[in-house]
Amino acid sequence: MKPQLVPGIFVTGTDTGIGKTYVTACIARMLRQRGVRVGVYKPVASGCVLHDGQWISEDAVTLWEAAGRLGSLEAVCPQRFAAPLAPPLAAAAEDRAVDPALLRSGLQYWLQRADLVLVEGAGGLMSPVTDNEFVADLAYDFGFPLLVVAANVLGVINQTLQTLITAATFRDGLDVAGIVLNQPNPARPDDLSVATNRSELARRCVPPILAELAWQAEEFEVSVAWETLARAGHPGT
Ligand SMILES: Nc1ncnc2c1ncn2[C@@H]1O[C@H](COP(=O)(O)OP(=O)(O)O)[C@@H](O)[C@H]1O
Ligand SMILES: [Mg+2]
Repeated sequence: MKPQLVPGIFVTGTDTGIGKTYVTACIARMLRQRGVRVGVYKPVASGCVLHDGQWISEDAVTLWEAAGRLGSLEAVCPQRFAAPLAPPLAAAAEDRAVDPALLRSGLQYWLQRADLVLVEGAGGLMSPVTDNEFVADLAYDFGFPLLVVAANVLGVINQTLQTLITAATFRDGLDVAGIVLNQPNPARPDDLSVATNRSELARRCVPPILAELAWQAEEFEVSVAWETLARAGHPGT
């Protein structure tokens, strides 16, 4: 068993609701079609829904289905909370707390059975995951390169650069493999920025714009070598 050599990508975004899950699912499907055993991991989820007496993370279900149901759904997201709040607040609302050790140990399950792991963070890099840790702390400890998902709307240049600055300055820096420009809603005809956002971002961002995902698209407009972008994480997570 060589769990620490399993490569991964940590998918983050400029905000919540911009398409991290949609994009991660798309990557998982692509990889699976190429014969890769894909592990998907959502360390913590809030806003979960009650289904047949079980609290379900809809993100976890989407990711698990896209990955071809490798492993167990429980292991995709071991910590689930009901309130649609940041995880520490959602946990407190039910007199619980996010388990910081489980956030990390939950990854091991996937390192032992997948060829590649896709981790989806909650919210953005500076979203709290516990009372004193951020998504960026988890990304740092896992050690996988980041993929930044950004929505192709007016404001994306500011949001993306803020995320990249956070990545560069958090502790001693987080590697960013690249950016995916996603269209989570039908493009508004009055949003002229949609036509120029990609080139304007490319001029200003050091990491590459790897691909775009159109509204309701099931594939990126280019073929991306996700396996090559993925890297093994830090030993000991
Ligand atoms: N490219 C897309 N085409 C169609 N719907 C999308 C696309 N990207 C995101 N969505 C939808 O937008 C909503 C938010 O996306 P989601 O992936 O859940 O965001 P996040 O994981 O960043 O919170 C979901 O309902 C999702 O299905
Ligand atoms: Mg999500």
